[in-house]
Amino acid sequence: MNPTIDIEVQAHNFATDMQAALASASKQISPKYFYDAKGSLLFDQICELPEYYPTRTEWAVLEQYAPQMAECLGADIDLIEFGAGSLRKVRLLLDALMAQKTPPKSYVPIDISGAHLAESSLQLQKQYPALGVTTWVSDYSQALVLPPALMQANRRRMGFFPGSSLGNFAPGEALAFMTQAAQMLGGGGLLVGVDLVKDPQVLHAAYNDQQGITAAFNLNLLARANRELGADFDLNAFAHYAFYEPRHQRIEMHLQSLRAQHVRLLGQTYSFREGETLHTENSYKYTLDSLHQLAKQAGFEVGIHWTDSQQQFCVQWLIAP
Ligand code: AVJ
Repeated sequence: MNPTIDIEVQAHNFATDMQAALASASKQISPKYFYDAKGSLLFDQICELPEYYPTRTEWAVLEQYAPQMAECLGADIDLIEFGAGSLRKVRLLLDALMAQKTPPKSYVPIDISGAHLAESSLQLQKQYPALGVTTWVSDYSQALVLPPALMQANRRRMGFFPGSSLGNFAPGEALAFMTQAAQMLGGGGLLVGVDLVKDPQVLHAAYNDQQGITAAFNLNLLARANRELGADFDLNAFAHYAFYEPRHQRIEMHLQSLRAQHVRLLGQTYSFREGETLHTENSYKYTLDSLHQLAKQAGFEVGIHWTDSQQQFCVQWLIAP
């Protein structure tokens, strides 16, 4: 049995960030706070929605091309997954690596949601008993910190960053993350999945599903503030508002106040005007061109990519020199 470590590397602070967001003239908070236990479950439900094509499409691309991806990754590697979540997709890579008799030495899933990660990595460990699994609870959006033992191992490190989580970073943040990744993965590489720019109606539907799961996911942020910070958000007085913003090639998600109202949080009162929003997420879409430009600027060499027949989603192989 491999021991599983569970270390809180970065103390992110929901309370402080929520206070700052509410006090600001243009209210905005990081989407990383969606992912408490409830939010992580809701996100898993989003991935199953008929309108939410990204998960299904990326899955199909991974399923079809995993053997080619495994060839890029090679043997005796340490595989590091960023924003690992439910650890479903990585199984496709692991199976392809095993089939080629090039199993990785270790697998390090990194996620901000510790509870979710602990449970899914225990299951994965059972399924792949020979694999060294080390969970690493960390907010990789702040600083990319890897377990010291991993950095000292002196093996080729390969990154896996699926799900278009890269899309949550603003351009400057994306460049900062990718630059750090290129350095940490030096001598190895990165497999990154990104959602591609497409018909705005398709994008709109994916973030405004009929069943209202995305709305519940968005509103869970306020529910979480009520649970954890003793806030008194009236969940019926805010509406899910999501749209494609073509100038920045991103989906924006907001929570819109349906009336003028006051909210109490940690001893302070904050006000919302009618129609005012709390901006909760940006989800940037890439073109092959914009992705390649970003990768090169960050210090990667652009390798091959795989996409679906409708070019909705792309998995890109990047070499870290
Ligand atoms: C996890 C950031 C890739 O942007 O599509 C899904 C999050 N938000 N529906 C995305 C999300 C609303 C998702 N990412």
